[in-house]
Amino acid sequence: MKSLGNIRRAFAPWTDPSAKPFIAFKNVTKRFGDFTAVNDLSLNIYHREFFALLGASGCGKSTLLRMLAGFEQPTSGEIVLDGADLAGTPPYKRPVNMMFQSYALFPHMTVEKNIAFGLRQDGMPKDEIAERVSQMLKLVKLEQFASRKPNQLSGGQRQRVALARSLAKRPKVLLLDEPLGALDKKLREETQFELMDLQQNLGLTFVVVTHDQEEAMTMADRIAVMSHGKVVQVATPAEIYEAPNSRFVADFIGDVNIFDGKVTMSGNGAVELAVESGFTIRIAAPETLAVGNTVGVAIRPEKIRVTRAAPLNASINAAKGEIWDIAYLGDMTVFHIRLPSGKFVRASSLNAQRSVDDPFTYDQEVWVSFDENGGVLLKD
Ligand SMILES: Nc1ncnc2c1ncn2[C@@H]1O[C@H](COP(=O)(O)OP(=O)(O)OP(=O)(O)O)[C@@H](O)[C@H]1O
Ligand SMILES: [Mg+2]
Repeated sequence: MKSLGNIRRAFAPWTDPSAKPFIAFKNVTKRFGDFTAVNDLSLNIYHREFFALLGASGCGKSTLLRMLAGFEQPTSGEIVLDGADLAGTPPYKRPVNMMFQSYALFPHMTVEKNIAFGLRQDGMPKDEIAERVSQMLKLVKLEQFASRKPNQLSGGQRQRVALARSLAKRPKVLLLDEPLGALDKKLREETQFELMDLQQNLGLTFVVVTHDQEEAMTMADRIAVMSHGKVVQVATPAEIYEAPNSRFVADFIGDVNIFDGKVTMSGNGAVELAVESGFTIRIAAPETLAVGNTVGVAIRPEKIRVTRAAPLNASINAAKGEIWDIAYLGDMTVFHIRLPSGKFVRASSLNAQRSVDDPFTYDQEVWVSFDENGGVLLKD
C-alpha cells in the first residue's frame, strides 16, 4: 500500500483558483429565535478533502453540519453541493450522511442490523449487504460483536457501530460530529489513521467536527477554526499552527506565549517591540507598523531555547529568568520560566537523550531566547 504522505502533500485544490469547491457555504446565517448560531459564514470545501471544524462548545459546529445534511434550514444564505443549491432538498435525497454527536443507534437491532439498515432501505442485494457489513465490522474491530444489541456494548463500541453505519452507504460526503469522542486515547489514535486511509481509498469528502486539536491536526487537510458562529481562519494544520491569523487562533491551537509591547522600529521585513524593561523582541514581518503602536507576538514553546549562558546577542530576543516549574512529559520537558516582571514563559525541549548529565533544576537562573523567525506578529 502507498503511504498517504505523498498523495496528501500534493493535494491542495484550494490553492488552485480554477478548482470548483464541492461544498460551498455562501453567507449562511442560522438564527434560533433571536440567537445567532451561525453568522454570515462563507466556506469552501473541496472534493476528496478531509476537512475539520474546530472550535469551543456552542460555536455552531453541529449546526453547520446539520444544515449541510438538511436537518436544519439556513435563515439566510445558500449551501451548494456539487454545483446544486441544496435549499428544498430533503435530507434523504442529499448525497450526504451524518454521524451524530449522540450516535442514535436502533436499540432493538443487533450491531449487524444497525450497520445494514441504510443498505436495506436502498434495496441493496443481500449478499452485497453481507459483504459490506463484514467489511465495516472489520474496519471498526467489532467482528465478534455482530449479534449484540447496543445496550450490550460499551460507549466506545457503540460509537464504532455508529461510525460503521454512517460509512456503510459510502456517501459522497460524510459528516462526522465528534466521531471518536468516546474512544480511549489508543483506539482513538488508531481509528484516526483508519479513517484517513478509508477516506483516501474510497475517495470521499469528510467534514469532521472535533474538540480535539491534535485530532484535527492529524487527520485534516484543512481546518476551520470557528468562534461565535463565524470562521476565524481556514488553513492547513501547519499554517494554523505556525501562522495563526489572530490572537484567538494562536491561543486556541496548541500552547503559546503571547507578548504585548510597543513598536520601537518597523521596516525592512522586521518589527521590533519593547515588551518589558530590557526585553526587546524582533520578529520577521512583512508589514510596516507605526512606531508606538501596541501589538502582540506569539511564540510557541518549542521555539524558545533555555540556556544557562547568555546567548551571543543578549540584547534582542533574549531575557533572563528563573525556572519556576519543570514538567517532565517523557518525550519532552516543559519549563515555566518566570521573567523579572512576573510574566511566565513556557519553553519546551525534546528529550532526545535518555538521560541528561546536568539537568536544569528549580529556581535556577536561565536565559530564554529565540530567533527572529520563531514568532508571529498578531494583528488584533
Ligand atoms: N434547536 C435549537 N434551538 C435553540 N438554540 C440552539 C438550537 N440548536 C443549537 N442551538 C444553539 O446554537 C449554538 C450552537 O450550537 P451547536 O450545537 O452548533 O454548537 P457546537 O459548536 O456543535 O457545540 P458542541 O461542541 O458543544 O457540540 C449553541 O449556543 C446552542 O445552544
Ligand atoms: Mg456539537
